[in-house]
Amino acid sequence: MNGRDLVRAVKDIGTARGRRAWLSAWRHRRADAVGLPRRGAERARVPGLLTGTQPLPGGGVLRFARAELVVRVMAGGAVFWGWDGAGPLPSYAVAGSGPEPDPRAVLEPDTEGGWRVVSERVTVAVSRNGAVEVRTPGGTVLRRESPPRWWEPVDPRMGGARWAVRSEVPADARFFGLGGRAAGPRLRDGAYRLWNTDPKGGFGPGDDPLYLTMPVQLVVADAGTHLAFHDNSWDGRVLLREGEEGAGSGPDRPGASEMRMEGGPLRCWVLVGTPARVLQGWSGLTGAAAVPPEWALGYQHARWGFGSADEVRRVVAAYAARGFPLSAVHLDIDHYDGHRAFTVDEEKFPDLPLLAGELGEAGVRLVSIVDPAVKVGDAVHVSGRAVGAGGAFVRDAAGREVRGEVWPGECAYPDFTDPQVREWWGGLYGERLAQGFAGFWHDMNEPVSFKPFGDATLPRSARHALEGAGGDHREGHNVYALTMARAGWEGLVRLRPDERPFLFSRSGWAGMQRYGGSWSGDVETSWEGLRASLALVLGLGLCGVPYSGPDVGGFNGSPSPELYVRWLQLGAYLPLFRTHSAIWAGRREPWEFGPEAEEQARAVLAERERLRPYFVTLAHLARRTGAPYVRPLWWGAPEERGLRDCEDAFLLGDALLVAPVLECGADRRAVRLPRGRWYDTATGAAHEGPGQILLDAPRGRIPVLARAGSVLAVRGGRAGADAGAGGCGDGVELEVWAPARGRTGGGVVIRDPGPGFEAGVVERYTVRWVGDAVVVEDEAGEVVRGVRVRGV
Ligand code: GLC
Repeated sequence: MNGRDLVRAVKDIGTARGRRAWLSAWRHRRADAVGLPRRGAERARVPGLLTGTQPLPGGGVLRFARAELVVRVMAGGAVFWGWDGAGPLPSYAVAGSGPEPDPRAVLEPDTEGGWRVVSERVTVAVSRNGAVEVRTPGGTVLRRESPPRWWEPVDPRMGGARWAVRSEVPADARFFGLGGRAAGPRLRDGAYRLWNTDPKGGFGPGDDPLYLTMPVQLVVADAGTHLAFHDNSWDGRVLLREGEEGAGSGPDRPGASEMRMEGGPLRCWVLVGTPARVLQGWSGLTGAAAVPPEWALGYQHARWGFGSADEVRRVVAAYAARGFPLSAVHLDIDHYDGHRAFTVDEEKFPDLPLLAGELGEAGVRLVSIVDPAVKVGDAVHVSGRAVGAGGAFVRDAAGREVRGEVWPGECAYPDFTDPQVREWWGGLYGERLAQGFAGFWHDMNEPVSFKPFGDATLPRSARHALEGAGGDHREGHNVYALTMARAGWEGLVRLRPDERPFLFSRSGWAGMQRYGGSWSGDVETSWEGLRASLALVLGLGLCGVPYSGPDVGGFNGSPSPELYVRWLQLGAYLPLFRTHSAIWAGRREPWEFGPEAEEQARAVLAERERLRPYFVTLAHLARRTGAPYVRPLWWGAPEERGLRDCEDAFLLGDALLVAPVLECGADRRAVRLPRGRWYDTATGAAHEGPGQILLDAPRGRIPVLARAGSVLAVRGGRAGADAGAGGCGDGVELEVWAPARGRTGGGVVIRDPGPGFEAGVVERYTVRWVGDAVVVEDEAGEVVRGVRVRGV
């Protein structure tokens, strides 16, 4: 506890909530003192030397003197290895029963007494002392994991082993991922904890860990890109150290990633290939991303502390009066009765279905916050207690319900790792749908229990069902929000089978994209917070969670008009585009920052509206291919080192390069371009990459460049039957950026197939020069008319 926290903790004693938080902190500590196994003396173990092998489809078993390893290459090229009997299942990350082994991949002897499995895309080699190497088909080593080391209690009743493994990667490699990290997207040397954590009161780049961690790292090197996933939800740390290339003829120092886990299986998946291929493999392994409803790709406004239904009406009317587009309004905990989930403050929000209906007519949806903790004694608590044999709530080792302190007061915590609890919880969303809510915002699900000291979550000894396997919070903590998302998603699909749910969650884990997206949580209102919010979205996308975005304007305080506008300009190009702030913070409506900022905001919101069909395409592509909407500049050229280190710009799909202004006072900025021709969308000027250019970024806009030859679906100025490509009358038209002379281009469009689960039709277009004209053709070779050609 630092000095500031100490002062706060002491002050807390003065309030009823503070006293309850102190009490629950003491109770949790006591629960752990009696409920956690005391480890006592430990014995260290390493695998020892190889003693024998046994082939299996896709690989085989390798027996060492003191450990056993299974290695398998799966159809599609994913590599799996697991020590001491750990197989791919059970897993919270892997979708379904996981991929089948590749029958063509066989275990065969390698050099120096080792063995290997050779497949089309990757070779895995195991040395005689248990090091595992992942190589490209050409033989270059992408990752070398040293023999692991375990520490097991001498008394086996005291629990499983802690373990550590150290991996080496090429000296030029860069690390990305590990969930949402404020200090990213490039993860520099340091220790990154794997424990979902509410940083309390707003976070900046120095805060780690945050709400959403996962043991997924994407490693990009000259030799190739790979993703490594250690499928283990326990608390742990990843120590990263970037490598160094030797000067002159000096030796290289490889990059290193050391993982130290407090328990759980030692098993690893590795995917190898281009970034696009790796993310495709990852989405195949962990499940396709949910496609948000079309309206969730528009601009949304939230506030903690709207105060009343009439205030919501006033805000929505003010947007409408100014002609500002608004897709959804989010109601925070203040619309609840006493902050209790699945209730309504009938005095301040007397008729929510009426409000939802009115807003609906204006094209504005209502989104509800949902917190997992349930107030003790509340109707939801009573109904949860009747679930299954033992009730729905997390218990301590002695069988008592674990209580914690959250917004409504003393709370119990549903155990979402129990299928019966998920089913019960999912049914509760019926009340929300009846109130007229169209989307759901999961919060406080790390899960949080307010505490003046110690870890602000459940005691580590708290018990979880873990799908019947049973275990404690050390294992259940990091999958709490993931399983809550599953409960919500499945409940909503049961309640409304014809509509894709809209759900996003503060915390989560590997595979959460199956159920929805995420958001930054309480990002601090500062230029650092602005930078951190881009880092989070990029990092999560590379971990397979493509839909996310920050609290635009920052969670607390009041941004200057300049910071607000810059944040809005960034947010407009991120999947979840939402202004939000704390009850004690300033407002975030675009007209609150003066007339100049208001006009600048108008342009930003209009551009997001124009690009909405492009976001629809990107959402469907993310589901089909695993490619995030927001991609690092190196996405298509990971071998270009300059791009790997560029953290202040990003690609939005294939077509756009967005260079937000992240510095106070800047009115120009350097923009690094990947190979090819790029058009400044504001001026139409063409720039040739690779290289770096300086572009104007006056307060009213940020540099956005379009790739030559690209095709974007945009909302046309002319709605109706003459709206362009295909004349669908959906107001969507094609915008095409001229390829360089003598070159061709093309792109894909997927239109919104409606609110259900239809996959949408992929329209493919090609672009080429015919004489002095740029011609766009569809797949049948028909020339598409009504296209807006730019860059000529
Ligand atoms: C948490 C959330 C924030 C929300 C607040 C009140 O701090 O991160 O978005 O406004 O709780 O519910």
